[in-house]
Amino acid sequence: MRKKLLLGNWKMNKTIAEAKEFACLSLEMAKQAAKNNIDIGVAPTFLGLDVIKKNNPSLIVAAQNVNENDAGAYTGEISVPMLEEIGIDWVIIGHSERRMYNNETNASCNKKIARLLKSHMTPVYCVGETLTQYENGETKSVVYEQLSVGLKDLTKDSVKDIVIAYEPVWSIGTGKNASKEIAEDVCAFIRSTLKDLFGEDVAESIRVLYGGSVKPENIHDYLTMPNIDGALVGGASLKLDSFQAMLQNIIK
Ligand code: PGA
Repeated sequence: MRKKLLLGNWKMNKTIAEAKEFACLSLEMAKQAAKNNIDIGVAPTFLGLDVIKKNNPSLIVAAQNVNENDAGAYTGEISVPMLEEIGIDWVIIGHSERRMYNNETNASCNKKIARLLKSHMTPVYCVGETLTQYENGETKSVVYEQLSVGLKDLTKDSVKDIVIAYEPVWSIGTGKNASKEIAEDVCAFIRSTLKDLFGEDVAESIRVLYGGSVKPENIHDYLTMPNIDGALVGGASLKLDSFQAMLQNIIK
């Protein structure tokens, strides 16, 4: 049975002080999630990682990116050993905003994922089609390419704890969430692709999330679908009350 997961992606929001406040005020929520066998966490900016980890150790704390090299002349980058030093072992990889603004590709995501798995860390690998690709009926071929290249040459054993997030680009931050049927159809396709690539046991153990305009009002619907194991949430994860409401609506 796959454990449900609610992960907030804060993007470039919240100062250190704001992140600390959220961490302190979410202690009770984290306990409630644990009691209900649900994983919850947030992905702040690099600057917010340490303060959240220290003030609410029960939350999963994920970075939003990492460099595949351990050290060197890579201005503006952060490496795996640097994250390990502050106890961070989850990282979002290949978010569509990074693909769009930072030229990340399936091949560069593959290097980052391989580096994370080498250190037994958990990548949350984001896949999903643009509006044009959706309108042209290319969703599955795009997602197939993102998976087959992004997860290339990884071993069955190392890949089993990875998380995949299906985030149609047209639904991110637009308020136009994909219907639960569309999301389930693609998440089921992701699972069957994982089965082709790594076998049934691995495909059944990997959590697949939906992301894109998830909010308290629609999260429950997604979580009732057999191949959707949780949500990656942007805007609605920033306020404590809506984060709390999403958790409640998963539990109910
Ligand atoms: P959104 O963002 O919930 O604001 O649409 C989701 C994401 O980018 O992960």
